[in-house]
Amino acid sequence: MNYQIIDIPKITDPRGNLAVIEGDSIPFETKRVYYLYDVPSDSHRGGHAHRQCQSLLIALSGSFTVRLYDGKNTKSVLLNKPDRGLLIPTMLWRELEDFSSGAVCLSIASHLYDESDYIRDLKEFELAASSQSKT
Ligand code: TYD
Repeated sequence: MNYQIIDIPKITDPRGNLAVIEGDSIPFETKRVYYLYDVPSDSHRGGHAHRQCQSLLIALSGSFTVRLYDGKNTKSVLLNKPDRGLLIPTMLWRELEDFSSGAVCLSIASHLYDESDYIRDLKEFELAASSQSKT
């Protein structure tokens, strides 16, 4: 599965750490930033894949689990450090769950919001993923 874990460059300091994302830290130009917060612990977010948009997810605070599915295999990734990002490429189904109290999920995206870029139906995703893997 072609997701990536990215170590975000940081400047540690007894006054508090500073992490910075710039230049080539991520393999796309940032078009949009959004974040999830006040997420109830029994809530599920995500539940979709993107045709064009890539995202980098970071647990700015607290923790949550990202369940990835490529149409064949699943993989769970725990995000619990503000200097570690999960790069999700196109055509990967994601579910976000098990949010800790106070968790904040930052998402840095390669495209502006466009509902037509979403695949929100799992069966449709599985069909698209299997036809893509044949080409
Ligand atoms: P949704 O895709 O369900 O969020 P998540 O994948 O994080 O669970 O989006 C929730 C609503 O917010 C939906 O109506 C679309 C809207 N939305 C925007 O308007 N702009 C955005 O950048 C995002 C991510 C969502």
